[in-house]
Amino acid sequence: MKFFIDTADLALLRKCADTGLVDGVTTNPTLIRQSGRNIHEVIAEICTLVDGPISAEVAAMDFEGMKAEGQVLAAIHPNVTVKLPMTWDGLKAARFFAAKKIKTNVTLCFSVNQAVLAAKAGATFVSPFIGRLDDITSEGMDLIVDIAEAFEAIGAKTEILGASVRTPLHVQQCALAGIGAITIPPALFLKLIEHPLTKAGLDTFAADWASTGQKIA
Ligand code: E4P
Repeated sequence: MKFFIDTADLALLRKCADTGLVDGVTTNPTLIRQSGRNIHEVIAEICTLVDGPISAEVAAMDFEGMKAEGQVLAAIHPNVTVKLPMTWDGLKAARFFAAKKIKTNVTLCFSVNQAVLAAKAGATFVSPFIGRLDDITSEGMDLIVDIAEAFEAIGAKTEILGASVRTPLHVQQCALAGIGAITIPPALFLKLIEHPLTKAGLDTFAADWASTGQKIA
């Protein structure tokens, strides 16, 4: 399973990347605003921290604007993935960038039909939002499982990137459902290693080892 980190906070990203287990990064206009950084600079720095697809989102709402912004973002680094909205213009832009062999991530996906359209447009990734559906008392996991089933049935090449993943349970459910890639906040990524029995076991082993007075190296 690929782990992408959903952040534009370089300090937090560095912590996650240091594990050696980070496959990519996603950002969005909200995360760029929270970082207080210039988008060109922050995306360029992210590309030095993680060697994998780095999603940078366009702000334009029209096809021509998305084309122009996407090309500027893609020129920052070969790993930049142009993040596009789930609109007709966004899908037109996905087709445009696919023809240029520039990776895309179609975001804000909330239905199987939207995901199928993104695949048809040649998107590299489609991002179904799990948590935001949970927020409105809809089952976010059902959406991503249904998209996975549809993609298998139609042989879609687009990769599902589970997004708006908020809890360790979401991560576990995505893994059990065979979702190949998810993007998660840094704090959630760092929390995934935690288990009280692991900690208790390590505390006991450390105390017992100290009492032996031995050294291994
Ligand atoms: C993904 O690309 C999005 O930036 C992100 O997962 C949204 O998560 P949120 O719904 O928790 O803001």
